[in-house]
Amino acid sequence: MTGLWSAATSGDLIADRRYAWGDAALTDGDFIAARDLFEQTVEQAPHWPPAYYALGKACLEAGDDAAARKALEQVLALDEADRLGAGLLLARLEGQASRAAMPDSFVAALFDEYAPRFDAHLVENLGYRAPRLIAELLASHPAHAPSIIYDLGCGTGLMAQAMPGPAQWFGVDLSPAMLAEAEKTGRYAALEAAELHAWLLARAPVSADLVLAADVFCYVPELEPVFAQVARVLTPGGRFAFSIQTHEGEGVVIGADMRVHHAPGLMRAMAARHGLAVLAEEQASTRRDRGMDVPGALYLMAKAAV
Ligand SMILES: C[S@@+](CC[C@H](N)C(=O)[O-])C[C@H]1O[C@@H](n2cnc3c(N)ncnc32)[C@H](O)[C@@H]1O
Repeated sequence: MTGLWSAATSGDLIADRRYAWGDAALTDGDFIAARDLFEQTVEQAPHWPPAYYALGKACLEAGDDAAARKALEQVLALDEADRLGAGLLLARLEGQASRAAMPDSFVAALFDEYAPRFDAHLVENLGYRAPRLIAELLASHPAHAPSIIYDLGCGTGLMAQAMPGPAQWFGVDLSPAMLAEAEKTGRYAALEAAELHAWLLARAPVSADLVLAADVFCYVPELEPVFAQVARVLTPGGRFAFSIQTHEGEGVVIGADMRVHHAPGLMRAMAARHGLAVLAEEQASTRRDRGMDVPGALYLMAKAAV
């Protein structure tokens, strides 16, 4: 049944009703009732991934990690593409954040759904400011005006809109619906639906003066290969500016908000390994979550000028 299921219905009326009740119980914080109702849903619709996903969530909330793991593994068995993001919950359970935790299909589905209201919701309601902060960081470290800019995870094109100027912009994003919004800005010479690391691999060496990634790396657990490609595509003296969501521990974790949090020390270590000088590192929150500023950092790096 991989791929051939609807998120809206299991196709079985009784299962759908149990699922809706379970959902209401979960929202009310009654995890025991929710778990019971999702177990009934699973029994009634044993091939429907959302039932196992919801059961996994209810078990997690109820503190039964073993049962949660079993239910979430069943989601992955039924839906290899993991459109629901069961891998993320599993990665959080295991305390590990690998590439598998954030499948492309999950990110694309998330942002395809979000695209039409992204700008209004994020900027107006969540105080989203990564593009503006990155533009300000670049402006505060003057350099030659870039002529070719790669915008990784360009979304609706807010980054290009925050930086007026004659440069040629090239955007890549996993979500076609986000790209459709970016197209409307008229700021991009080309836009491509692809995973950003795969897209970078296909770029010519020494082909961009500036590479940007605004609020994107919170969906990318493994940045080492990305840094390697950024260093390869940058021209000598070319710059790399991005934001990350941070945490106080070591390494990379999946946070309670289901985003990837990177330790700042990792950025400095990767920069050193790939010949990038850190010109600026600033603590900065790029948006709010449930009324709280999300901890984060901004970076400006440069490849050595030869
Ligand atoms: C929070 S939005 C930010 C969009 C834009 N950079 C901005 O500042 O408005 C994150 C975007 O990154 C994209 N994205 C996440 N992971 C990606 C990946 N591995 N490859 C390409 N795009 C990715 C998402 O589809 C989404 O459009």
